[in-house]
Amino acid sequence: MILSQDVHKVFGGVVPEIASRAHLTSIVPVVSRALEDAAVTFDDLDAIAVTSAPGLIGALLVGVCYAKSLAFARGIPVIGVHHMEGHLFATALQHRSAVPPFTGLLVSGGHTLLLDVEEWGRYRLLGATRDDAAGEAFDKVAKLLGLPYPGGRPIEMMAREGDPAKFRYSRPMVRSNDSPADPSYYEFSFSGLKTAVLTSVRSSADLERDSADIARGFQDALVESLVEKTARAAVAWGRKRIVLGGGVACNSALVAAMTERAARFGATVFAPEPRLATDNAAMIARAGLFHIERGERSGLDLNAHASQPIPGLVTA
Ligand SMILES: Nc1ncnc2c1ncn2[C@@H]1O[C@H](COP(=O)(O)OP(=O)(O)OP(=O)(O)O)[C@@H](O)[C@H]1O
Ligand SMILES: [Mg+2]
Repeated sequence: MILSQDVHKVFGGVVPEIASRAHLTSIVPVVSRALEDAAVTFDDLDAIAVTSAPGLIGALLVGVCYAKSLAFARGIPVIGVHHMEGHLFATALQHRSAVPPFTGLLVSGGHTLLLDVEEWGRYRLLGATRDDAAGEAFDKVAKLLGLPYPGGRPIEMMAREGDPAKFRYSRPMVRSNDSPADPSYYEFSFSGLKTAVLTSVRSSADLERDSADIARGFQDALVESLVEKTARAAVAWGRKRIVLGGGVACNSALVAAMTERAARFGATVFAPEPRLATDNAAMIARAGLFHIERGERSGLDLNAHASQPIPGLVTA
């Protein structure tokens, strides 16, 4: 059961206070509806998994307080889950083989993380974005082109009509002479690309005519940067599986380019369908199950945290 808060469309983004108030009024009916859809009752629940970090603190607190109260009232365990670990598990709900060891690329509205995953619960963070997240770049460029929020899907659709040769932007953080010793070897950066798009938009004599070509140029550059870094990681760590997660992971241009590149070194790419790529409760339940099965439990002092590193990080 996913509730989209249409109210954010009006503001072109998420307004934290509005989001947490909407969580407060929605959480009880959303849980009831989810139980109804799954044809189960509270009696059937063995444990409760809840996102406790990272994110908007007000919205997280609503979920954490509700989950703890419910667990206490039912006498069942509660487990706090890191939102990005949830995204990492999402693809495995759809593809049975999307399991470690693999190279993981999480590309969402707020994060761009490149991970080597030797086993569940052991995450080697290879690189992240220095500035904007991949999804955030899609959303900002969509705004520049007058497209609705969230902008990933509209850009993807528009880019299909675009000419790839009209606007060629440089591939962020990718140079032919990059060496694994460079700190930026696995890192991302999308704010320069966004500024390049802004320049194109401002200098366009006919934006209606150019929009699709700009969208295509932007998407090609962003995708190539993601593909290059992920391929580097998979080759360096000898992984034959690449698992994509987060809202941008359902972008078909990204999946196609990644699949094509991975085939060159014999790797398979697993990407989630849109409902599993973007935020959903199933992925949190799946990650929570992993921790519960390992015997972990959160106490009733479980708190929400606006930012927190993914658990189980191993140093590079
Ligand atoms: N087809 C697509 N192509 C590109 N981007 C997409 C597509 N579909 C969704 N997105 C982007 O995915 C993002 C939403 O994904 P998700 O729900 O995983 O992010 P989030 O939960 O807001 O961020 P985070 O998980 O980092 O807290 C938005 O930025 C949206 O534009
Ligand atoms: Mg998310």
